[in-house]
Amino acid sequence: MYCTRNVTDCVTWVGGSDRRLALFENLFPISRGVSYNSYLIMDEKTALLDTVDSSVTRVFLENVAHTLNDRSLDYLVVNHMEPDHCANIEELMVRYPEMQVIGNAKTIGMIKQFYDMDLEGRTILVKEGDSICLGSHTLNFYFAPMVHWPEVMVTYESSEKILFSADAFGTFGALNGALFNDEVSFERDWLSDARRYYTNIVGKYGPQVQAALKKLSGLDIALICPLHGPVWRSDVAWLMDKYNHWSLYEPEDKAVAIFYGSMYGNTENAAEALAAKLGEAGVKDIAVYDVSKTHVSDLIAETFRCSHLVFACPTYNAGLYPAMLNFLHDMKALNVQKRTVGLIENGTWAATANKQMAALIGEMKNMEILEPTVTVKSALKEDSMAQIEALKDAILASLNA
Ligand code: FEO
Repeated sequence: MYCTRNVTDCVTWVGGSDRRLALFENLFPISRGVSYNSYLIMDEKTALLDTVDSSVTRVFLENVAHTLNDRSLDYLVVNHMEPDHCANIEELMVRYPEMQVIGNAKTIGMIKQFYDMDLEGRTILVKEGDSICLGSHTLNFYFAPMVHWPEVMVTYESSEKILFSADAFGTFGALNGALFNDEVSFERDWLSDARRYYTNIVGKYGPQVQAALKKLSGLDIALICPLHGPVWRSDVAWLMDKYNHWSLYEPEDKAVAIFYGSMYGNTENAAEALAAKLGEAGVKDIAVYDVSKTHVSDLIAETFRCSHLVFACPTYNAGLYPAMLNFLHDMKALNVQKRTVGLIENGTWAATANKQMAALIGEMKNMEILEPTVTVKSALKEDSMAQIEALKDAILASLNA
């Protein structure tokens, strides 16, 4: 049975939510599920903005048919060709034989790469700044390459000032009856997943997100309709500010996050000792993570949030503890930069983790490694405790600078 919500009188959300999928992109845990948003505009012409993932095809097709109410579908705008949004193009072409697929040259190329459908006479190619009139609504197309794939474009509907933003401004999390951001406690319940979504999916492409934000800054935006998560109809400036921080790699919070890998608890003990000393010195909201326990996507999100990052790691096979190595590689891949870093190593006979971590962090941009770094030999003792005390002082001085 159909399950839709009205965005405005003429625009209907016709997407669906998936709570069964364990891993988004078969990588990222989504315990709160995910929504795949699609929007249908009813005017003299009808236009659908993107489709959905195959997991919610059934309800999506029912939603579209119900909303069309026996009218034909004139246009399908494909803003993004990742399969979580384009799994139903072929089915729509069959169901709605008059439907034209609107996309740019890269979009059409990707449709041909992913599918074997006959597009002859069924496509409208658009360029940057092109527009298509539906009657009282007008769709304007702006390219946003690499937010998140190269073909991505966003569509701005100028009469109701709606930005159909593709993956931008999206988040993990199923829509539980809510559609708008002001129907949920976004900062309390959604922000951490929104940050995790952005930083892990689009985090690498900060400069491209900045370019898109600049392009959109001239538009008068009343509503943002992303492909995942709630529709934004208030606090748009707050959301833009988050995106500005994330895409400039500026920390949101002056805060300390301590990440440790530990086989038998001794490196963990060093991380806990530093956290306790910082807490004793008045530092609030310190975050401490076991890199073996916490999913790396959560760790990445915290590196985007916090200004000060401490890594505590044992030597392992003459290299770094594998979970920490993977985490640091992921940070590099996602372009993490502009952070102040503390290092703690542990080794029983070959304590070389600090040198190895410093080399990896040195490959990231504008990272400052604080002195002293800490060396623990097997277990925390008075001499290494003194180093932790000194690292605490260096972090405090940096926080207060
Ligand atoms: Fe939600 Fe890049 O797809």
